[in-house]
Amino acid sequence: MARKNIVLCGFMGCGKSTIGSLLAKKTGCAFIDLDRYIEKQENRSVSQIFEENGEPYFRERERHAAQTLAAKSGLVIAAGGGTLTFQENVDVLKRSGRIVLLDVPVEVVAKRLQNDTTRPLLNRPDKEAAMRELYDRRLPLYRAAADIVVDASQSPMQVCLNIMASL
Ligand code: S3P
Repeated sequence: MARKNIVLCGFMGCGKSTIGSLLAKKTGCAFIDLDRYIEKQENRSVSQIFEENGEPYFRERERHAAQTLAAKSGLVIAAGGGTLTFQENVDVLKRSGRIVLLDVPVEVVAKRLQNDTTRPLLNRPDKEAAMRELYDRRLPLYRAAADIVVDASQSPMQVCLNIMASL
């Protein structure tokens, strides 16, 4: 039987890419970062896509990427921070594997994202307030989507081991 995918979900800065690539190595799966996948297809960065075509276009590419990757197996997929806030993406990715929420307190992501300029949704003067508002709005959606929730404020290796133990 084909190996199920492992889909990492959570807010920007929760460690999806770092933990995902480590988890892939440990489990012998291939690693795919959804944002990087879209960037490769579009031949430009997520920031450029937002700037040149707007968020709805990016969400459409994201939806398409989720569908394509869900049709594959044996992958560790790092979703984007918004991917699992859309029920259609949740449904398609859930059918392909298990969704793991990397749970990190808002204070921790706020610190990690303080000097970040690569997240178009946070590129605004009221960055911290916008981030907190988005975090509060999304957390219940992430929780509803997840099959497994892990505390991701520990070291990437520890988080990785915890995921493997709970799969
Ligand atoms: C987004 C998160 C980003 C990226 C895009 C939109 C979001 O991914 O997909 O900027 O809506 O939270 P990361 O969570 O990997 O930063």
